[in-house]
Amino acid sequence: QDVQVQPESNEFQELLPSLPCERDAMNLPLYLYKGFWYHDHSLEAAMAFRRHFQAQDSDIILVSAPKSGTTWLKSLVFAITHRLQYTVTDQNHPLLTTNPHGVVPFIEVVYRHNKFPDFTSSPPRIFGTHVPYSMLPKSVKTSKCRMIYLCRNPKDIFVSMWHFGNNVVPKRFPSWQPITIEESFERFCKGIAMFGPCWEQALEYWKLSTEKPEEVLFLKYEDLTEDIHYQLKRIAEHLGCPFAPDEENAGVIEDIAKLCSFEHLSNLEVNKTGKDLFPPVENSAFFRKGLVGDWMNTLTPSMVVKLNQVVDQKLHDSGLPL
Ligand code: A3P
Repeated sequence: QDVQVQPESNEFQELLPSLPCERDAMNLPLYLYKGFWYHDHSLEAAMAFRRHFQAQDSDIILVSAPKSGTTWLKSLVFAITHRLQYTVTDQNHPLLTTNPHGVVPFIEVVYRHNKFPDFTSSPPRIFGTHVPYSMLPKSVKTSKCRMIYLCRNPKDIFVSMWHFGNNVVPKRFPSWQPITIEESFERFCKGIAMFGPCWEQALEYWKLSTEKPEEVLFLKYEDLTEDIHYQLKRIAEHLGCPFAPDEENAGVIEDIAKLCSFEHLSNLEVNKTGKDLFPPVENSAFFRKGLVGDWMNTLTPSMVVKLNQVVDQKLHDSGLPL
């Protein structure tokens, strides 16, 4: 295996200096590769994912931009797909003792640590990823695996990222220098954020979801908060495990919504004090307010106008309402 890893990593080390590099909305250096921005380690991992991953038809791939509700989506899909194995009210349900990122791994994080991971778990295998559609492995595109894309209003993504950056980045990078929110916002508006621009990423998956709805279910964070019952039914149907009338009558959908709600998950001990997943970052970093429209408390009116303009310009006539 070392023989294969070595040339690949040389290829990456040769590629990296040739890529445009800028500091992002969290003041970390990102590299522009094929229209999207990556940390160096994420790009190397995304390339390994694309090169080596062999999708199976039964796979489930959850895609989102960072800070758009990935943690929530992972918990919902895990609870839906494992509801026969663990009834939702089971005192031993894994989501009571494991953060959602522990039950549904980020595939690029797996590849960051191991170029040849062992994915032999029983189907369906569920993975999360932040990579754009154009970077997905061929086998994902040609298999019948089902994808779910979760998008969120970019103004809320920015505010969530701003807080996350200030809370988490100094712990991971002790020499990190803080920047002003104005500076961070300018960079975000240029699309310079992990796996961003988030509106370009959303657009890729939006187009695919309109062309091949059986492959990609396109969800919005705002719709999940508006009508979780309806959205859970859509998810279950898309994944080929619709709720039976008996389950609906027994309140299983409501139970899943409650199990995975912000209030419930964020108050579990594992999510309040655990830091096993991305040390030294605490699991609590993935839970802040869980609200729609918190941008109103942070962005100035001129920031709102600016970001709306950037997004409208990119998405006009795409039919994607962000
Ligand atoms: P806020 O910072 O706006 O509160 P990600 O999981 O992609 O990192 O996104 C994190 C955002 O999702 C945070 O948003 C977080 O509070 C919110 N979130 C996490 N779990 C949630 C849940 N169960 N329900 C609703 N929102 C949730």
